[in-house]
Amino acid sequence: MAQDDLFKNVISHAKEYGFIFQSSEIYDGLSAVYDYGQNGALLKNNIKEYWWKSMVQLHENIVGIDSAIFAHPTTWKASGHVDAFNDPLIDNKDSKKRYRADVLVEDHVEKIRQKADKEVAKAAKRFGESFDADMYRTTNPRVMGYLQKADDIIKRFVTALEAEDLVEVKKVIEDEGIACPISGSKNWTDVRQFNLMFSTKMGSVAEESNDLYLRPETAQGIFLNYLNVQKTGRMKIPFGIAQIGKAFRNEIVARQFIFRMREFEQMEMQFFVRPGTEMEWYENWKTARMKWHSNLGIDASKYRFHDHDKLAHYANAAADIEFEFPFGFKELEGIHSRTDFDLKQHEKFSGKKLQYFDPELNKNYVPYVVETSIGLDRMFLAVFSSALQNEVLEDGSERTVLKLPYALAPVKAAILPLVKKDGLPEVAREILSQLKFEFNVQYDEKDAIGKRYRRHDAIGTPICITVDHESLEDKSVTIRHRDSMLQERVPIETLNQILGNHVKMDSLLKTLD
Ligand code: GAP
Repeated sequence: MAQDDLFKNVISHAKEYGFIFQSSEIYDGLSAVYDYGQNGALLKNNIKEYWWKSMVQLHENIVGIDSAIFAHPTTWKASGHVDAFNDPLIDNKDSKKRYRADVLVEDHVEKIRQKADKEVAKAAKRFGESFDADMYRTTNPRVMGYLQKADDIIKRFVTALEAEDLVEVKKVIEDEGIACPISGSKNWTDVRQFNLMFSTKMGSVAEESNDLYLRPETAQGIFLNYLNVQKTGRMKIPFGIAQIGKAFRNEIVARQFIFRMREFEQMEMQFFVRPGTEMEWYENWKTARMKWHSNLGIDASKYRFHDHDKLAHYANAAADIEFEFPFGFKELEGIHSRTDFDLKQHEKFSGKKLQYFDPELNKNYVPYVVETSIGLDRMFLAVFSSALQNEVLEDGSERTVLKLPYALAPVKAAILPLVKKDGLPEVAREILSQLKFEFNVQYDEKDAIGKRYRRHDAIGTPICITVDHESLEDKSVTIRHRDSMLQERVPIETLNQILGNHVKMDSLLKTLD
């Protein structure tokens, strides 16, 4: 299926099966804001649980907090968000569409890199098994030319951004002949900076009210509470503070469904370390976070690291974990070594000391911070889009199946009486009562059994439990596994154990430890 069709399929499946709806749809929607439906909310909660437990429950030295969305306005002055949380924007005069200049350039460079990849793929076909792709990339003049060109453009663009030279930023776009994807024209306005924070007011009388911002990241709530947590939790460095919560950004180019939203959720963890040890922890967390992803069983080739070309002024190292979404590889998670920038800024702006006394060194210092930051909604999209599959079965028929990792599936088992009579619904409801305290299970008696299987395949239910006439006699049921579609007969009394082995979060967490 072509990339565009694949993506459209993901969006329509998410809607049709109660995962994600456009916000305020009856009023024609609110751009880049989405609501999670009955199945989406469950899947999202399960992803949160996997992240939270892997951070807070499995690490003795990481604790979790839940800070407010509002913070004192000086917070955002100190963090640099008031002055520097900007996107460079450019408008196309013909289509009247607005773009982020960096996205335009990155997409252009990605196309050049894809040309190199195509050359390598062609050569691989030509030379067969003995082909060495890495060698070809570093020796073939045409491939080397493409890669060099891509690197040169990025280098020039990053230098312009770092120097805040917006005239040069525009010149890169013009020199590269980048056209508007809508109008195809190269008729661009100048590049301008645009702050991404939403502001609001606190207080009932306008004159007395204070300007506030909706937080653009959850991290600052952690920095503001660093000393509270360290002291009350008697935390010893190295230690971490984790948090899951909403963040808000007035994104300009808000396309791509839940990939770039104006209201979204982040799962962030700040790890406070002794200065000088941050690079070691940075590498550790890169490895740990990739393991968290690969533990889900999603195809490893869908993930890759991308080291930042342009480091933020406060960082001394930064990498993204990129995921192959239906529209290509894009950032899913960031791992950043943020030095002591944030805590020092808050010391400066608040006048309060935010230091740690290190008993081993017998001295005070402001800790360094390594941060892991993942968008919950992006993780949802990664899991959901890679799970959605159309399969042609042996008999030539087709099925749509959402092959979610079992522990993340919204509904763990469906309990299906074969017919709506002869006492089968009663037995099915008894099974529901037996399972519902431990698992999120659903009773479903509507439609033919095959249709019910398909319905549950489509929302990713790992196991269907069918109650038939024999169940009345032998106290057994047929269970059908989602992925293999294999069926087996099992005693009703063993269902909790069977489900537990397959779908519980602890099995997933154990493979992580
Ligand atoms: N505290 C660091 C920080 O916020 P970031 O790279 O700006 O870093 C971290 O954001 C993660 O948050 C991203 O990797 C992405 O998964 C998610 N994210 C950022 N902006 C988003 C948006 N507009 N919509 C959905 N997710 C977003």
